[in-house]
Amino acid sequence: MEFEFDIHKIFLEPISKLDSSLLPQRRPLVSSSEAQRQIVAVIDEIGKASAKAQRLPAPITSASRMQTNQHHLYILKDCTPKTAGRGVVIGFLKVGYKKLFVLDHSGSHIEAEPLCILDFYIHESLQRHGFGKELFAFMLRTEQVEPQHLAIDRPSEKFLSFLRKHYNLRSTIPQVNNFVVFEGFFRDRKAPGRKMPAKRAEGEIKPYSLSERDFLKHEEGLPWPFSQAQSSLNRASSLGSSPTRACPRHNPGEEDFVKSLRTFRPHSLQRAASGEQEDPSQRRRTR
Ligand code: COA
Repeated sequence: MEFEFDIHKIFLEPISKLDSSLLPQRRPLVSSSEAQRQIVAVIDEIGKASAKAQRLPAPITSASRMQTNQHHLYILKDCTPKTAGRGVVIGFLKVGYKKLFVLDHSGSHIEAEPLCILDFYIHESLQRHGFGKELFAFMLRTEQVEPQHLAIDRPSEKFLSFLRKHYNLRSTIPQVNNFVVFEGFFRDRKAPGRKMPAKRAEGEIKPYSLSERDFLKHEEGLPWPFSQAQSSLNRASSLGSSPTRACPRHNPGEEDFVKSLRTFRPHSLQRAASGEQEDPSQRRRTR
């Protein structure tokens, strides 16, 4: 991806890591306001390209979402002499810690806060050249995490193939949310998850941990679980996706309920649907 400005002046390293400040560790060679403007443009553009590649209705990576979340964004630029001009961005990887309820082999819910892969994209013209592996391996080293300890937000077929090939990640542990975890997720962790009590009625523990992509559903009309549009968002390739729910029967009282839900903040929807009370301490966690 090319830009009208010099990528090498804002990203001095082959791979730059950004957090909510949107500033790389090595100071850009342009003024900070100009660097900020250019970095915002890069993030918004690569976020759009990733959404398009994954056929998502809207980007899940943008500068504004980066600024309001504790995510880490790794951006890979091309350093080869043939693009020595203004440089190009090859792709990016976005990760972040999320509080999830993860099912173990026995079906018990474990409360964990793993590092999650939230978005990953290499430009179409450069896929299958090893750039994805380079970026991913850099992230693993920087975050000091083993690949089997990651949770992955709805991986695409390409990404599943990537994980099989490079990290031998094959068997998944079935989940009821949209995150995929692999065999080995619970083994040899530095900070083990907290096991929840065996009794586990769904209403008690809220197993549907919010995915990075869940906000997209709310931009598409009726909120979950009433929206039929959700099925188009759940890619066939997703593993461990939410269980299929029966289509809600037409009911005038329900329509009023749905209308009232539309005015809620997205993460209030699940609480409202289950009659659960809002817990203010959870608000930031599940964004
Ligand atoms: N079809 C199937 N598998 C593919 C693929 C494709 N078009 N592109 C990459 N892969 C997988 C394969 O396992 C491939 O190995 P192979 O060529 O021997 O079959 C391996 O990735 C190549 O590794 P690498 O070159 O390091 O990966 P990459 O630079 O192509 O990056 C992705 C991998 C997934 C980031 C990249 O394909 C991509 O951006 N895809 C579109 C967006 C996407 O699906 N992102 C994941 C979001 S959850």
